[in-house]
Amino acid sequence: MTDGSLAGRRVVLGVSGGIAAYKAVYLARRLGDAGADVRVVMTEAATGFVGTPSFAAVTGAEPVVSLFSHSGSVSPHTDLARWAEVVVVAPATAATLTRLATGLSDEVLSATLLATSAPVVLAPAMHTEMWEHPATQRTIETLRGDGHTIVGPAEGHLAGGDVGAGRMVEPEAIVDAVTRTLAGERDLEGVEVLVTAGGTREAIDPVRYMGNRSSGKMGHAVAVVAARRGAKVTLVTTSSLPAPGCNVVSVESAQEMADAVAGTECEVAVMAAAVADFRPADRAEEKLARTEGPPHIVLEATPDILSSVVARENRPVVVGFAAETGGVERAVEKAARQDVDLMVYNDVTAAGSGFGSDTNRVIFIDRDGGTDPQDLLSKVEVAELFWTKLGAILNQR
Ligand code: CTP
Repeated sequence: MTDGSLAGRRVVLGVSGGIAAYKAVYLARRLGDAGADVRVVMTEAATGFVGTPSFAAVTGAEPVVSLFSHSGSVSPHTDLARWAEVVVVAPATAATLTRLATGLSDEVLSATLLATSAPVVLAPAMHTEMWEHPATQRTIETLRGDGHTIVGPAEGHLAGGDVGAGRMVEPEAIVDAVTRTLAGERDLEGVEVLVTAGGTREAIDPVRYMGNRSSGKMGHAVAVVAARRGAKVTLVTTSSLPAPGCNVVSVESAQEMADAVAGTECEVAVMAAAVADFRPADRAEEKLARTEGPPHIVLEATPDILSSVVARENRPVVVGFAAETGGVERAVEKAARQDVDLMVYNDVTAAGSGFGSDTNRVIFIDRDGGTDPQDLLSKVEVAELFWTKLGAILNQR
């Protein structure tokens, strides 16, 4: 039986060596039921849990188990990596997750993961102690930050009669994650997106500046996810974080950011930067000397970048970010005042939502002032939800 949700989609299923590998055979069957064309790649350890004939029977293709011995290909990992529209690893052991997070490609599954530009879905499975170990949690944070989707683990029975967190989620949930990954994948194809990110630095003298604590991580996540979903992204940023797939314009001050934005046409403008509201009116040519005593620094307003975009004749969909130190009410008021299509609020004093954090808890505020609170998520997950929300706004236009 096929429900067709993955009809014709090319799915590489990576299987690493855990007891949940026996469920991967059923997962391969369910992916096939949904219409996918499935190829299996196994670590050597996985072959100790389940035999290749089981996968061959279910998928109609011999699993790849080695970088060297696969018949008919001199480079099975790059063949699979290019063929895949999505790679799903289930079960993903601590060792396989760590190889991917660190770029170690010493066997065929990790080499395939390193070689692919397809989205990757990971279903961790391990003992509770291993899952909760700080090293594993660091690995998971890294993988999330790299844009990979993590499903699970769940709580339940583990190998050896143990019970706890670390059990692989059920195959149905994994099929669902694969389907959602592929469905949402290119929903922004060709959309021209402008993103501002990072905190601006306003020069006092050649050495010193006025700045703020924004790291640019949220804005970069928004830009990278948009690019991966098919958008043409210009990222005007003060941060040197990587932004694969984006046209990056590096700036430092509010004025430079305003100039770069003014020169960029777009259909969607996401103003995620923390722009200084004021700057020193005069920048000292020489470094100010301590011996001259405390300087009197006169401030002047910086250009309001968001307002200049809202005022464009050909107004794009405009999104504001409100990093606040209190409740959402101020951001609701700001959304109306700034006339944005969507405002993203977060409380920078809340645990897990501060500057520089890899996670964030946001509330989306729509044009009518309606609020849509989200869970504490990785910034990449927030960016995924953000674009899904914005996609709906774009479709209404
Ligand atoms: N923003 C901008 N240009 C500025 C200042 C802010 O484009 N000179 C944008 C930010 O990128 C953000 C939104 O405006 O998307 C809200 O920024 P925020 O500093 O919270 O707004 P303000 O109106 O300056 O409010 P506050 O009184 O809190 O400083």
